[in-house]
Amino acid sequence: MQKSNGQTKEIIVNSVNIEIREALDDDFSWIEEVMQHALEAYYGGDHRAHAKRIFDAHIKGGVDHLGFFSFEQRMFIAEVDGERAGMIHLVGKRQSTYKISPLIVAPEFQGRFGLGSRLLAYAESYARKHQAHQLYCTVAEQNVAALQFFLRKGFIRAGSSDSHYKSGVTETMLYQAPI
Ligand SMILES: CC(C)(COP(=O)(O)OP(=O)(O)OC[C@H]1O[C@@H](n2cnc3c(N)ncnc32)[C@H](O)[C@@H]1OP(=O)(O)O)[C@@H](O)C(=O)NCCC(=O)NCCS
Repeated sequence: MQKSNGQTKEIIVNSVNIEIREALDDDFSWIEEVMQHALEAYYGGDHRAHAKRIFDAHIKGGVDHLGFFSFEQRMFIAEVDGERAGMIHLVGKRQSTYKISPLIVAPEFQGRFGLGSRLLAYAESYARKHQAHQLYCTVAEQNVAALQFFLRKGFIRAGSSDSHYKSGVTETMLYQAPI
């Protein structure tokens, strides 16, 4: 069963209830933890501070008045039976594209409920609704699971950059068009 209510989507699969909704105030500590855990291997810098910056932008209404390229920052949470299980952050760009940065399913939920696929489908539908013509992201070459995931979903490898975000880690640029 699928129920869609504005920006909340609820699906019942094998009696497990899966819901995708906007991130709320009390989601921050969970988001901070999953971002730190998923990103520290591939990216330098302070992931907790980065999480706070993008989360605050979303909570304050998601409108980026100052961004030269960005106009919007939105964060969504996937829950399984009321438990936080995955997140996606979307950055809307003035060039009618959306950047996924990042998409994370908590390790204990990976490969079990298709949450990565559901969050990506949610992002595609959000981007389409906002007249975007392209979704894109970058993934560390060493992050084989994530790279395989995006390639299986039809993303096209646009190129790569050595030591782009972290010394010794090659970053792959991926895009999906048209959405
Ligand atoms: C990438 C990620 C989001 C996938 O989430 P998931 O819920 O496990 O993925 P799904 O169950 O929806 O799998 C979807 C597809 O990807 C494939 N896939 C998932 N994990 C895979 C892996 N480790 N290796 C190869 N393929 C994989 C599945 O086989 C499936 O293919 P299908 O649709 O053709 O059957 C998850 O592994 C993750 O959160 N990784 C850590 C965070 C991260 O690195 N994010 C990328 C930075 S943006």
